[in-house]
Amino acid sequence: MFKKTFLVLLAVSVVFLFSSGVMAETYVVGTSAGFPPFEYIEDGEIVGFDIDLMEAIAEAQGFEIEWTDISFDSLIPGLNAGTIDIVAAGMTITDERAQVVDFTDPYFSANQALLVREDSGMNVTVLFGDHNLAVQTGTTGDLWVEENLQDPGILTGRVTHFDTFVLAVQDLIAERVEGVVLDTPVARRYAADNPVEMVAELVTGEEYGLAVASGNTELLEKLNAGLQEVKDSSVMDELLEKHF
Ligand code: ARG
Repeated sequence: MFKKTFLVLLAVSVVFLFSSGVMAETYVVGTSAGFPPFEYIEDGEIVGFDIDLMEAIAEAQGFEIEWTDISFDSLIPGLNAGTIDIVAAGMTITDERAQVVDFTDPYFSANQALLVREDSGMNVTVLFGDHNLAVQTGTTGDLWVEENLQDPGILTGRVTHFDTFVLAVQDLIAERVEGVVLDTPVARRYAADNPVEMVAELVTGEEYGLAVASGNTELLEKLNAGLQEVKDSSVMDELLEKHF
């Protein structure tokens, strides 16, 4: 009898904890490090603008998050398979992607850029003829090179696809490719920390959004509300100041 009462009380308190929000919901956030200053590894830890932004949104909306770092081209499949709830990875909102996932309101604007080795004398002509480039698989830079350079036969050299931009930039420094195409803010950061330089900006007019599985309106609304709170408060400015 005593035991039964105890169990009932336990069950009631668990229900109470959930409904009162003491036990907050936990969402798995997928990202792909090697995209500084948005997400990168520092002292074995994943840090960056997207990381802080997601933490701020989670705090504003009262949920918990857990990070998972995977290859960029596995993020959307992860959302669809349900192994990830949210993508926070400097992901550009595109029509093709919006057919399979749902994006929040935009939180950052970017273009594409061309990185070459510092003092190599190389310039935008690396994009034409028999030159070798590196990109990150599945990114808008990857697609841009394919559609605008390879398909029309403007670029006839090899394009190497990497899982991360860290590896792409290493190949550039090691003189295995002559250029890397990637997002402008990230190109600037790599140029600041490595013997590479940004020699061209390709105006693609991209905007980054957080993504959830198609139809997950409840979570999308939480993210948009949280994002708005962050934008309306001083937090967004603080994060921009901290990371850029
Ligand atoms: N903005 C580009 C895209 O959406 C590149 C994003 C790469 N992000 C990353 N975390 N590696 O395709």
